[in-house]
Amino acid sequence: MHQVRNFSQYGQPVLKGLVTPEKAKIHAQTLANSLRKKFRHLSRRFKREGIDCFRLYDWDSPDIRVVVDWYAGRLVVAEYERKQTGPEYLPQMASAAAAVLNVSSNKVYIRRRHTNITDAPRYKKLNVKGERFKVRERNLWFWVNLSDFLDTGLFSDHRDTRVIIGKLAKDKDFLNLFAYTGTFTCTAAAAGARTTTTVDRSQTYIKWAKDNMLLNGLLGPKHQFIQSDVKKYLACALSQGKRFSLAFLDPPSFYKNEREQISFDVNRDHPELIREVLKLMLPGSDVFFSTNHQRFEPRFENITAKEIIKLTPQTVPEDYRNRNVHNCWQIKV
Ligand SMILES: C[S@@+](CC[C@H](N)C(=O)[O-])C[C@H]1O[C@@H](n2cnc3c(N)ncnc32)[C@H](O)[C@@H]1O
Repeated sequence: MHQVRNFSQYGQPVLKGLVTPEKAKIHAQTLANSLRKKFRHLSRRFKREGIDCFRLYDWDSPDIRVVVDWYAGRLVVAEYERKQTGPEYLPQMASAAAAVLNVSSNKVYIRRRHTNITDAPRYKKLNVKGERFKVRERNLWFWVNLSDFLDTGLFSDHRDTRVIIGKLAKDKDFLNLFAYTGTFTCTAAAAGARTTTTVDRSQTYIKWAKDNMLLNGLLGPKHQFIQSDVKKYLACALSQGKRFSLAFLDPPSFYKNEREQISFDVNRDHPELIREVLKLMLPGSDVFFSTNHQRFEPRFENITAKEIIKLTPQTVPEDYRNRNVHNCWQIKV
């Protein structure tokens, strides 16, 4: 059932009334003006830093619930779905974005995002075109796919977190949990980690993570890739006496596996998950915990650590500062 609320889950006021064709025209013009300015401001600096992908519009105005991302000359234009706009609205915003940024229409990818709470459709395939291409993020290259999945393979909101991990990774045994396409594994490996262990339940993403490592010339026997549920992996690693000195933990907000009767809710379950990870960590190590749950409430009281530091101001890059894109903590063991 659709629920009418005064505020969206992102704390933005929900637009009342339908977006008429006249209003949509104004939105398209406002979006285009904003993109022109933002692109001018960001593109030169990011080019200098070797960053191919960045966010140009992030639901900046409460009326225009659109997100526009730049991927090395291609655009992903998404709308947080609502009932006030019809099917023609998003293509209209996308063509305004493409025109002002001089991007041809075959390089524009449209996404409809749901604001409901389950992540069920999130990691499913949308398409099977298999079109992928390389993008650069500072010293690394990553494969992205803009057509086949809701997410592209690269979460750029964590590009500065990768820098922080990179600075700590030399000679460490790095554990990457809920690793997705292994971008943090590439960072740690490139920075001289002694070993890396990459865990994700999806075979597709484990393969993608290996491809990213290969792309950067980093694949080798020091780097292990494990397709597994994280909780099962943690129990198994503990019983085998495995230990790590650096970890990155970025769980989805929710997941459910009916068949195995597993369910996870980051608000409810993060203390237990962090405690399980800490059992594997050597003294003196660091665990980075991140979540993109919009209403995350940390409960760190019963977590035994030397220090827990909220890092969010350092980890959220300039192009993502408009909204609460993620929150990140460094747990010193
Ligand atoms: C939010 S993404 C992680 C993003 C990643 N840290 C990055 O920045 O590229 C969540 C990942 O968790 C994986 N996942 C979801 N449930 C899982 C589970 N129970 N065990 C292991 N991986 C899981 C998904 O396949 C997905 O790749």
